[in-house]
Amino acid sequence: MKIAVIGTGYVGLVTGTCFAETGNVVTCVDVDQQKINKLNAGEITIYEPGLEKLFLRNQKEGRLKFTQSLADAIVDAQIIFLALPTPPGADGAADLKYILGVANDLGKLLNPNNYVVIVDKSTVPVGTADKVHNAIVASATIHQAGKNIEHCFDVVSNPEFLREGVAVDDFMKPDRVVIGTTAPKAIKVMNDLYTPFVRQGNPLIFMDEKSAELTKYAANAFLAVKISFMNEIAQMCERLGADVDMVRKGIGSDDRIGKRFLFPGIGYGGSCFPKDVQALAKTADDINYDFKILDAVMDVNAMQKLHLIPKIKKYFNNNLKGKHFALWGLAFKPNTDDVREAPAYYMIDALLAEGATIAVFDPEAINNTISVYGNKIVYANNQYEALFNADALLIATEWNEFRTPDFEKISSALKNKLIFDGRNVFDPAQMQELGYHYESIGRKIISNK
Ligand code: UDX
Repeated sequence: MKIAVIGTGYVGLVTGTCFAETGNVVTCVDVDQQKINKLNAGEITIYEPGLEKLFLRNQKEGRLKFTQSLADAIVDAQIIFLALPTPPGADGAADLKYILGVANDLGKLLNPNNYVVIVDKSTVPVGTADKVHNAIVASATIHQAGKNIEHCFDVVSNPEFLREGVAVDDFMKPDRVVIGTTAPKAIKVMNDLYTPFVRQGNPLIFMDEKSAELTKYAANAFLAVKISFMNEIAQMCERLGADVDMVRKGIGSDDRIGKRFLFPGIGYGGSCFPKDVQALAKTADDINYDFKILDAVMDVNAMQKLHLIPKIKKYFNNNLKGKHFALWGLAFKPNTDDVREAPAYYMIDALLAEGATIAVFDPEAINNTISVYGNKIVYANNQYEALFNADALLIATEWNEFRTPDFEKISSALKNKLIFDGRNVFDPAQMQELGYHYESIGRKIISNK
């Protein structure tokens, strides 16, 4: 099939590359000429494990192309994917200006003699497929007056469920593919497109557009609820002297609850959960529905991101002025350089405000952090360099390389044998044996005093 993907951000690039991988010819469009030049030169613009290999192979085979011209990209395309940003607007609702802008352009360009399926891949509020449909028709009425555009396209909602860091795997072997359309022609096209991805027997789930749009928000909001619920259970554990790891295992083994996404920590971050929870809350607000659980989730997460700060302050008798901290982990989660809504940043802001200094290390997210914090903090070249002369080690992201470090090196570089762990990467029993003061989330404080 011939496919156009509009927008070469994270979702667009993964989507385009993975569709090329199953033999389709994919043309990706972006308004950013610099980005297009880089991509055409074989340079990948995002960090995502496994993507580069597929990208280079398909580009070499001529199945993956990049252009700045929307008109060129959509010529003969049977499917057009919209993978455009939907940033939160001032009121928390997803801003549709990019999507509707492209819909307007499509209204000028669509050929009434070629049927095409237009797919919303971005996470968009319920009702967006209708809005895109109407925007295309309205634009065609102005720019292609007299031509019957309405019957030459359908708008489908096909939300993505990619996790950063494992996006290629999630795309190639999805748990399910949700396809929102009731138009028979579009159902056929989408079915043919996705069949190679569900050979293992996972379902293609067809439904109406609105249900598909809501499914995406419901999935992310539910996961945010699950994490936040565990974060509150962790708070209870700390106060009761129970161990959240045990409670997690105890409940996770029940199939109805499931083992995944029960890890307490310093809150969820990233580009999706915070934005989608907020946007769903706004949708609820717009229809005068008081979605109480979502409000609670946002409160819990705001609190959780700063969960370590009072613990650190308490240890230092409420005075962090002149204290120096080593911070391991900046990305909102491991295996990504994404720092959007990263809990580490909330910690940095809080510590700086208390008059502390910080040296940071992250395997991938240092460059992104330099552009945010400049010379307000110190950037280390490796995890041990960050420790030099620090009063304590703080952990904000559970990168694998932090899990079994050289504790001799840690204790000789730190001023105190002191660790505050926001992701429960170490075993408290081991910390006790090694003589650290160790505070983590929802587990007993290990004291070396
Ligand atoms: C998410 C969704 O999983 C994906 O389906 C969606 O479409 C895009 O958003 P992503 O943001 O890449 O993906 O990360 P994910 O692995 O889901 O983690 C989200 C956040 O939850 C991270 O901050 C992570 O640290 C946190 N988390 C996750 C926990 O705090 N505890 C857990 O048990 C799991």
